[in-house]
Amino acid sequence: MKPEYHLQVSQLCKSHGRRLILNEVEFSLPKGSCTLLTGENGAGKTTLLRILASLEKPDRGRLRLAEQSWQPWRKARRMLQQRVMYLHQHPYMFDGTVEYNLRFALGSRVPQRDAEPLIEKALRLIGMESFRKTSARTLSGGERQRVALARAWLRSPQVMLLDEPTANLDYESRQRTLELLQRLRNDGMTLVIASHDPLHFEGLTEQRLHLQAGRVEAVELNMNPATQPANVILMRRDYA
Ligand SMILES: Nc1ncnc2c1ncn2[C@@H]1O[C@H](COP(=O)(O)OP(=O)(O)OP(=O)(O)O)[C@@H](O)[C@H]1O
Ligand SMILES: [Mg+2]
Repeated sequence: MKPEYHLQVSQLCKSHGRRLILNEVEFSLPKGSCTLLTGENGAGKTTLLRILASLEKPDRGRLRLAEQSWQPWRKARRMLQQRVMYLHQHPYMFDGTVEYNLRFALGSRVPQRDAEPLIEKALRLIGMESFRKTSARTLSGGERQRVALARAWLRSPQVMLLDEPTANLDYESRQRTLELLQRLRNDGMTLVIASHDPLHFEGLTEQRLHLQAGRVEAVELNMNPATQPANVILMRRDYA
């Protein structure tokens, strides 16, 4: 059966000065899949993720979203902004408590009484219930990453791009993060994870994109069904 793609990219090029970082890159992200993005320091992983999230412009490129035809990158920017979310390795925290940071992610469309149970659930998911009233700016790097993941869960993007999401995490936080990513993926979110630690994501990722000398090589990975937990409905599509 032909796989259903969420997003397809082709002819993607990006230079910084004279350096060609991405050279005619092409790849596809199957719907609800998890893709691991690897490559040496400076290979262009962050650049690629930032372009996908529309935080940076490519020099050229084409894009195809599931239900649409191929289009030049500049025409797809708005759509990308609406659907794709980038999680920075060192996430920015707003001034205020952890609770405030989570509430902010929900925006004004969610009434206060609906927001409360969602915030509680988000805190539970990341195991940070006791940090609710803590000033977010005082959190450690690993704690910030977990709050950022909870914010993303509340925003419920269709595609989530994670830049080194486990780099600062101890064993327990890492397991919790992986569990959350697994749930998001099982519920249909398409994930791309840039990491230098592919072993952390074994069993979660079914495709690996390796960036080298500006090119992407796609490798299919074997999934181990024993590591797949039951499907859990966790998405907040109604507020997306
Ligand atoms: N704004 C910029 N101006 C100039 N050069 C840049 C800019 N952003 C990135 N680069 C260069 O582009 C190359 C790719 O950077 P990028 O951050 O995408 O690599 P990476 O694969 O994410 O590396 P790492 O594993 O260290 O995170 C690097 O050589 C970097 O110096
Ligand atoms: Mg990087």
